[in-house]
Amino acid sequence: MRHADQVAYLERMLRMVRTNTRDDGPGLSHTPVEGYFDPVQYRREVDVLFRRHPIVVGHSEQVRKPGDFVTHDATGQPILIARGTDGVLRAFLNVCRHRSACVEPAACGSNKRAFVCAYHGWAYDLTGRLLGITDGTAFGDVDKSRYGLRRLKIAEKYGLIWVVPTALEDHEDATLDIDAYLGRLQPDLEGWTMAGWVRHSFEPIRRQMNWKLVIDTFLELYHFRYLHPESVFPLFLDNIATYEQMGQHIRIAAAKRTLTELEGSPQESWRITDHAIVLYAMFPNTVLTYTQDHCGIFTSFPIAPEESVLHFSVLVSPEEKAKKPDSYWEANRNLFAAALVEDLGIGETIQRNCHTGANRQQTFGKFEKALGWYHAEIDKAIA
Ligand code: FES
Ligand SMILES: [Fe+2]
Repeated sequence: MRHADQVAYLERMLRMVRTNTRDDGPGLSHTPVEGYFDPVQYRREVDVLFRRHPIVVGHSEQVRKPGDFVTHDATGQPILIARGTDGVLRAFLNVCRHRSACVEPAACGSNKRAFVCAYHGWAYDLTGRLLGITDGTAFGDVDKSRYGLRRLKIAEKYGLIWVVPTALEDHEDATLDIDAYLGRLQPDLEGWTMAGWVRHSFEPIRRQMNWKLVIDTFLELYHFRYLHPESVFPLFLDNIATYEQMGQHIRIAAAKRTLTELEGSPQESWRITDHAIVLYAMFPNTVLTYTQDHCGIFTSFPIAPEESVLHFSVLVSPEEKAKKPDSYWEANRNLFAAALVEDLGIGETIQRNCHTGANRQQTFGKFEKALGWYHAEIDKAIA
């Protein structure tokens, strides 16, 4: 995040404290409750957002060396990501070209030289090329070059891996211009220098709630005082936050209680993560939270209209990790996790209550404007 932006956000939040105001929007916004359970809309979201948009499926540390691979099924497409001996990271459908078994059953691994299908032993190299057909005479003179693993568009940048989960045709380029997709978020992601960071923890959290309802819980600070009085609220000022729409994405900063220590100090020395948490809602389903020494990555995946899985990872810089004991990072993760339990617990009741007929739509107040933006972008994308 550019220093000028950091100062502007901190200044804005200090002004809110001084004047006891909030980052209000122009008015109310709404989203219909059907959007959280309607099967037709759900299918459309999967087909458009989870097949045509770049989706975060992991981070660089999982596949650092040639021969490293991971598999990922949460988008609904079986994905295989492997780093070749040439250092290039590639993504494929994890589907054998013979009779469609998965070619790699493991979640991850290293030192791989070839993927050998468990069903009849067809083998593929790290670039997806079909190496050999076992008892090949039975297939006559089939052109092996046309039976490579189906490729997917992939980008690896800023420590993250994005994939577009739709098979490419042979003539199509697998390069994904993620900077164009990030737009105004690009300088921020570059600035956090996350490329070399390591994973402290990962957990999938499965819940009976629509995947968008999970993202909703991240988009305002209004609820902190009421829902998180003992977990994260003690760290933050009450609803002192800035919200900004950046193309399809959203940037939020939330002030910690130490913010007012900045009054009177030279702005050149201000650093936003000393006194605030910076949160990005990266369209359509990922939230990144940056604090002084780590990043939380939250990616919400649909399982069914009313069921989802949240992939929650914590990444830390190796220098910071070396400086602090494991107990520090564990306490940090536990704090996040405690707030998540509170958010997702209430989210499941909201999911059920969407069927009661009490509300035809959710109402978003002036400082819940980011929810209005988010749902408007979803609606626009699937229209
Ligand atoms: S399905 Fe993979 S070798 Fe037959
Ligand atoms: Fe929350």
